[in-house]
Amino acid sequence: MLQTAKNFPRGFAHLPFYFDAARQAQLIEAVREGVKQAPFFTPQMPRTGRPLSVVASNFGELGWVTDKERGYRYESMHPVNGRSWHPMPDVLKTLWCDVTDYPDLPEACLINWYREGSKMGAHLDNDEQAVGAPVVSVSLGDSAIFRMGGKKRRGSTKGIRLFSGDVVVMAGESRHCYHSVSKVFFGESTLVPKGGRINLTLRRVRL
Ligand code: SIN
Ligand code: FE2
Repeated sequence: MLQTAKNFPRGFAHLPFYFDAARQAQLIEAVREGVKQAPFFTPQMPRTGRPLSVVASNFGELGWVTDKERGYRYESMHPVNGRSWHPMPDVLKTLWCDVTDYPDLPEACLINWYREGSKMGAHLDNDEQAVGAPVVSVSLGDSAIFRMGGKKRRGSTKGIRLFSGDVVVMAGESRHCYHSVSKVFFGESTLVPKGGRINLTLRRVRL
């Protein structure tokens, strides 16, 4: 069991600099490969169609997508070109096995690219059937302030700065808590070729 970060909901772990510079570069190379097959698309909010400020792609059998008409869901194909997502890199499966004790591998890795001005509003990750599986995320490139609240959207939150190579695990109680990315320190890192921050989020979708 990983240790819960101080003053965070139970099950929230922060592993600073889990990936060293060479492995971070390898992951960025994997993203470059992945987006050749499944280019970044602009996710839209359900109903309003308002674009999210990040652009997204996925690795794995399933990918998280959202649009005005059909909302949040997992799909095995890219929403624009209809191709499958690039397979999950082994290094991410190994990460999952190292930091979780969940018996099944993740099926989806969402790739979010935060460019200048991008943020992520408070939300719950609850589009998965496997709600008991942890969520594991990797930060690459510019650092960011990640905030975690409780089970209700409103209320106090606690912030943590995530740097390139850091891993976050949301298991246990923290898996069901609101969280957001309130700020990205745009231009801080040169890891991402066109700048910004890449976050990889690993999830088990099916039971
Ligand atoms: C998310 O929870 O959707 C984003 C997490 C992150 O970018 O660090
Ligand atoms: Fe999330």
